[in-house]
Amino acid sequence: MSESRKKPILFENYPDLESGIPWIKLAPMRTPVKQLNKLQEDLGINSLWVKQDNLTSPIYGGNKPRKLEFLLADAKNKDCDKVLTVGGIGSNHCVATAAFCNELNLKSSAALVYQPITIHVRNNLLLELYFKNNLIYSHTQRGMSLRVRWQLRKDIDIYYIGTGGSSPLGTLGFVNAAFELKDQIINGELPEPDYLFVANGSMGTTAGLTLGIKLANLKTVVYAIRVTDPTFASVENTQNLAVKTRSLLAKYDQSLPNLSFEHLIIDGNYYGETYGKPTSEGLEAIKIIKETEGITLEPTYTGKTFAGLIAYVRAKKNEVKDKTILFWNTFNSKDYSNVISKMDYHRLPKNLHWVFEQSLSKFKNERV
Ligand SMILES: Cc1ncc(COP(=O)(O)O)c(C=O)c1O
Repeated sequence: MSESRKKPILFENYPDLESGIPWIKLAPMRTPVKQLNKLQEDLGINSLWVKQDNLTSPIYGGNKPRKLEFLLADAKNKDCDKVLTVGGIGSNHCVATAAFCNELNLKSSAALVYQPITIHVRNNLLLELYFKNNLIYSHTQRGMSLRVRWQLRKDIDIYYIGTGGSSPLGTLGFVNAAFELKDQIINGELPEPDYLFVANGSMGTTAGLTLGIKLANLKTVVYAIRVTDPTFASVENTQNLAVKTRSLLAKYDQSLPNLSFEHLIIDGNYYGETYGKPTSEGLEAIKIIKETEGITLEPTYTGKTFAGLIAYVRAKKNEVKDKTILFWNTFNSKDYSNVISKMDYHRLPKNLHWVFEQSLSKFKNERV
């Protein structure tokens, strides 16, 4: 059962963190776990589960609130009244940051960079409008970096959140999530997973879970599906982020052991051509989970991840028949379709209007 949270369960395990690590509650509930009975039967296995992080917050769910609980608390502690972050034009992270900045009376800006256009990208841009996010668009990564540097030089009171909120501080959100999972296992809400499937984008979610699983003494293998560039979300970079996050914890609790992360696997086979470009396997996986379990995924992260899970199970059916497999659903499920339908893209900065004026025909089967 989900229950109301008073403080991160991580602070209960490491009480010395509480005085030094900033945190503010944005995700009111522990997210429930659920067995996917129909889908596991169709796949011929006995124990397939989902961790419903789509329900982290009634304002905007998915994996972002867990990171923002630490990051925006830090912004508040540092008396910043503005926040700047970065992402692709369809970034869920930028939308979520704007949504929670509104809640905390912080002014938000996002420096956005090109990604392939899908319905989901358009909808997120309209949500940026709804959350009054100040948008700065550049077509190239280099252009975006220059704009960010200029902005930060101009206004030293801005709190900067890097890609996906995946700094060691933001990553703590998912160290905490692993302890939440451990608690649910102890409570008998699900068996201890043998495998956990999760999207690896800016790496904070995966690195945090990888570190947290080790600290919580779980035997789970973290099977991360890489959905961003191989030079960026590599196994080395993901492990490095876990190491840096461990160092942050060790500042407050010197008894923390040195850890190794051999239980992390990164699979890049479902990435496709480029970041944000839907793949046929991803779209097929989105359709399968929607039709069997009524769960909505999107094509950039969770669709590709679920495609990886399905392929893994099909390839290793005999080996995994009696194993427990957990899919970590990182996609917001708060329905903003009503709001989106009332937004007019002409109110976006002019240099983003092309997103709505280009044909989408290639991806017309995409579900949002
Ligand atoms: C829906 C969704 N899932 C997964 C991820 C990946 O998480 P991370 O950036 O922590 O790797 C993102 C990141 O934006 C996301 O929006």
